[in-house]
Amino acid sequence: MTSRRHFLATSAGASLAGSLLAQVPQSRSANDQIQIAIIGAGGQGSDDVRSSLAAGAKLVAASDIYQGRLTRAREVFGKDILVTRDYREVLARRDVDAVIVATPDHWHQKIAVDAMNAGKDVYLEKPMVQRIDDGKIVVGAQQKTGRILQVGSQRVSSIVYQKARELMQSGAIGQLNMVEAWWDRNSAIGAWQYSIPPDATPENIDWDRFLGRAPKVPFEPVRLFRWRNYRDYGTGVAGDLFVHLFSGMHFVTGAIGPTRVYAAGGLRFWKDGRDVPDVLLGLYDYPQTARHPAFNLALRVNFVDGGSENSGFRFIGTDGILTIGSGVTVSKSPREAEPGYTIDTFPKAIQEQFLKKYREEYPRGTPSADAIRPQVEDRYLPPQGYSDHRDHHRNFLEAVRSRKPVVEDAVFGFRAAGPALLSNVSYFEQRVCNWNPETMVAGS
Ligand SMILES: NC(=O)c1ccc[n+]([C@@H]2O[C@H](COP(=O)([O-])OP(=O)(O)OC[C@H]3O[C@@H](n4cnc5c(N)ncnc54)[C@H](O)[C@@H]3O)[C@@H](O)[C@H]2O)c1
Repeated sequence: MTSRRHFLATSAGASLAGSLLAQVPQSRSANDQIQIAIIGAGGQGSDDVRSSLAAGAKLVAASDIYQGRLTRAREVFGKDILVTRDYREVLARRDVDAVIVATPDHWHQKIAVDAMNAGKDVYLEKPMVQRIDDGKIVVGAQQKTGRILQVGSQRVSSIVYQKARELMQSGAIGQLNMVEAWWDRNSAIGAWQYSIPPDATPENIDWDRFLGRAPKVPFEPVRLFRWRNYRDYGTGVAGDLFVHLFSGMHFVTGAIGPTRVYAAGGLRFWKDGRDVPDVLLGLYDYPQTARHPAFNLALRVNFVDGGSENSGFRFIGTDGILTIGSGVTVSKSPREAEPGYTIDTFPKAIQEQFLKKYREEYPRGTPSADAIRPQVEDRYLPPQGYSDHRDHHRNFLEAVRSRKPVVEDAVFGFRAAGPALLSNVSYFEQRVCNWNPETMVAGS
């Protein structure tokens, strides 16, 4: 079988080859090792590479605008990898089949589109895009080029979420009416106060290339190393964390998105110059569709939770609750067979009249073992050491080989990112936002 590495004959012709490849997507043998490059070799990029290597890929190049991350990439992944500050050099390489894009959010759209146009398959970190307007550009480029694009919310590949989906589909909690999900933290690092290296100098950092399309500002390392705290580069807690909750919830319920978005919150504690809230609540309407009944979603991120650090999901139905934490739990507490009464404050004669009628309708039975209502709690735990991140990369690499669809394509990714980004619009503009999840268009 011809591998794409051989097919791409000249590096100068990478973009031409990319467009040719878009017309002739090729599958490849399972033994043909996929060669990847990382663009944005920070915390998540390094984890992505580890998971991708564990899933069978080979790293051949790394790009980052901070020299220290390139030095570190060679220390960790081998001195033979190509390192460069300019990601376009990576895209021009013939030996790169796929790229992982793990830059700050404001670069996602541009690098992903450039990569697909250069004939590369793309593993694109979440949130898929930084701005609503970016979404259709990535979806369109993916469809036009025919490249494989997997968005990096790994829960969608998790066996835990798969189990939750199966349980929901089998009616384990009856009819869904509400979903709650939260992500609470209580630490400086949890609140994104990441370390700033002592060699963060203009010589070691390509500042203009970090800024990209963001407003030009003087060199200030905190903006790079703690980019999540600035709307110019990140997407706040909604884009960073709500988006994982949307992805996981959409996967479990089959939902594609809410129609109404409302968010409230504030900057309550981590007043370190950031311009995003550290407490955010989101409320979302999911009308009935063929895939699910009407339900409401309530999301919460609190970076100032003095009590605990935890995150989780509760899917609430007419007959029980399904909880996702490290595993899945289904709890059921059936309602009483008879409704009961509140007649104490009625006159005695009226009480008697009421009771007579009530007992005709609900005769008093003799208590028996059959009348005992079971309080059920079933727990499903993944094997120790299970990694959904590795499974997500495996799914991506399989798709690169087979040219079959991934679990989290650009449409899925945008349907998770869209309402997350609108949560920011709602918070900052203090208004309810409308969203059409079918067409992925925001209303007024
Ligand atoms: N899937 C997950 O669970 C998960 C977890 C954490 C982060 N993420 C996502 O991964 C992405 C990276 O987050 P992170 O925590 O690794 O941040 P990070 O700051 O640790 O890494 C980002 C890297 O990108 C580099 N960079 C900036 N502009 C660049 C450019 N133009 N070209 C090349 N490199 C550039 C930076 O120098 C930095 O090394 C974000 O989109 C984030 O939302 C996903």
